[in-house]
Parts: sequence; structure tokens; C-alpha cells
Amino acid sequence: MSGKITINGQILEFTDEKNILEVARKAGFDIPTLCYHPELTVVGACRLCVVEIERMGIQASCSTAPADGMVVFTHSERVNKVRKMVLELLLANHDRECTTCDASGSCKLQTYSNDYNIKRLRYPSRTEQVPLDTSSLSVVRDPNKCILCGLCVRVCKEKQGIGVWDFKNRGSRTQIIAAMDQSLADSACINCGQCIAVCPCGALSSNSSIAEVWAAIRDPKKTVVCQIAPAPRAA
Ligand code: SF4
Ligand code: FES
Repeated sequence: MSGKITINGQILEFTDEKNILEVARKAGFDIPTLCYHPELTVVGACRLCVVEIERMGIQASCSTAPADGMVVFTHSERVNKVRKMVLELLLANHDRECTTCDASGSCKLQTYSNDYNIKRLRYPSRTEQVPLDTSSLSVVRDPNKCILCGLCVRVCKEKQGIGVWDFKNRGSRTQIIAAMDQSLADSACINCGQCIAVCPCGALSSNSSIAEVWAAIRDPKKTVVCQIAPAPRAA
């Protein structure tokens, strides 16, 4: 499908872009995303990529296809208000010990919270601390930092064809687990590290140096290398 779309007053042609986000990024508009990766299935989970569309209101740009004649605003007052609310809600459920977090400085949640000038949260913060899974040679899982973007689930299943990660429970009790709710060391994990590469916020981090991991892997059949590129933060 092709056509013309107006984004922030600029008329743009689209051809095979699957969503408004791709059209906007190609034109240089910076839309924040946490659950989107161009090479993985789109789920529209985080709602940070919202834009305002004339006659359609606020919509997730990653899960909305461009249509001829659409008029879109990526940074209207309404959009910025919703993004701030989304960030505050995510932060309220996220362990904010940034000073001791491996991902500090590269964490997308931290970066966007700074970009959107989040100084205080209007929502109650979670207080429960869940134990970390440090059983694996390569990956440390910290459920207290997980924002349930599902990128680890999708990259492991869709790119590596393994499916170590999965969701458990629903609603506010949703968690990410290693398949069958076992420790990561007992799962089918091949220590490729792709889940760490896509995790936007330090919930998955490295347990050893790459050299230590490869030295310790004895079964060469288990070494599957994935070619997925890191998700761009913005165009
Ligand atoms: Fe997303 Fe990381 Fe949580 Fe997986 S562990 S769902 S990649 S935040
Ligand atoms: Fe679109 Fe998460 S990036 S909903």
C-alpha cells in the first residue's frame, strides 16, 4: 500500500512501511519506543510510541499502519502528556537503583525519563523485591527491573528459534519467566545473549565476560549465533 501522510505538517510518501513509526523515523522524527524492534513481531505493549492522528485520536504508532491522507502529530501536548504518564507508570514498577545498575547510561527507560523531564511519580511505587535469577552462566535476570516489553520473549523465539522466555500470569501479576518457570540454568538457553542485547532497561544483564561464557560452553552444537541488529533508538 502506498500513499501520502502528513506528519507534523510535512507531507511524506509511504510505500511499504508497515507502520507510522517507520514513516516518521525515516523522515527524522524522534518517536520513543520500548517494546518495538523492526525485525520482530509488533505487539504494541508499552504505549510510549503514541502519536495523535486526526479523527483517530491517540494511537500507538508501531501498531498503526499508515493510510493515505492521514494527519499525524508526534509531539503534540496530548501526546507528550500520555508519554509522561506511561513513563511514570513504568518507573513506578521498576527498581530505580540506577547508580548500581549495569544498564545505567544505556537504559532507554532512563534516557526517555530524562528526555521527558520526569522528576517525580504520581503513582505508588512497587515495594516488593523479587529474588534475582543468577543461575545462568551468561544472563542475570532481575525481575524488579522488568517492564514487560516482551522483546526477550520474541527475540529468543523468532530469531533464535528456542523460546526460553515466556509470560506468566495476567494483568498486574504478569511476569517474565524462563520456560516452565524454571531457573535459567535449567532451561534450554544457549547463552547467546540476544535477550540482553534487546532488553531496554537492565532487567537482563551479563553474568560473565563473553570470553568466560564461550570458554565454558562445551557443546559446540549449542553455539547458535544470531545476526539481529540492535534496535535503533530513533531515526
Ligand atoms: Fe523486556 Fe527485559 Fe523484561 Fe524481557 S526482561 S520483558 S526484554 S524488560
Ligand atoms: Fe509502540 Fe511500545 S513501541 S507500543
